[in-house]
Amino acid sequence: MNIVVVDDFYEKPEVVRQLALGAQYRDVTKMNYPGFQSLQSYSSNALVGKFEKVLGRKLVIDPSSLTFGRFRIMLEETGSRLKVHLDGFCDWTGVLYLNPNSDCRGGTGFYRHRRTGIDNRLSEEESRARGFANWEDLERSIIEPDTLNADAWEQTGYVAMKFNRLVLFKGNLLFHCHTESFGADLKTGRMTQNFFFKEELS
Ligand SMILES: [Fe+2]
Repeated sequence: MNIVVVDDFYEKPEVVRQLALGAQYRDVTKMNYPGFQSLQSYSSNALVGKFEKVLGRKLVIDPSSLTFGRFRIMLEETGSRLKVHLDGFCDWTGVLYLNPNSDCRGGTGFYRHRRTGIDNRLSEEESRARGFANWEDLERSIIEPDTLNADAWEQTGYVAMKFNRLVLFKGNLLFHCHTESFGADLKTGRMTQNFFFKEELS
């Protein structure tokens, strides 16, 4: 189970969108996201409980080190380039779409690196079998040079944007990227609420 889609996630998604429209943002392009992120996290124990129920396991949430419940805004211009990547710092990535359906375009794509056939993070053993010291070495040598090269990637999966849809996926394992960017401001831009977290070790 690497990708989980939950529709109608929030009971009152309009209220969440209003919160996002009223939030303050800063440019986080340097943090590897092509757009803006809210200064504050919007979360609760009930929300964490909901995630645990969906995934059927205990989670480790640490908003002080990983974004959990912050809103993100991507504009047509800031997200114009595809940038395929892994979220190497977490087990799971959650993206909740907050645009009205009439504005939704594209979604989240999952990818395979064409030349090497690699479609997820390899184990240390597999990385060594391909002649590299470890995964980081392999990633630096043959994945990172292609991160912005759309032709280097084949799309293997796709989850379309839809208002109040939550997509949870193993961000640390699966190469992914937004497939389209749109809008020119807070109201018309691609609005999501983002979650990065780990599983509790059992
Ligand atoms: Fe990501």
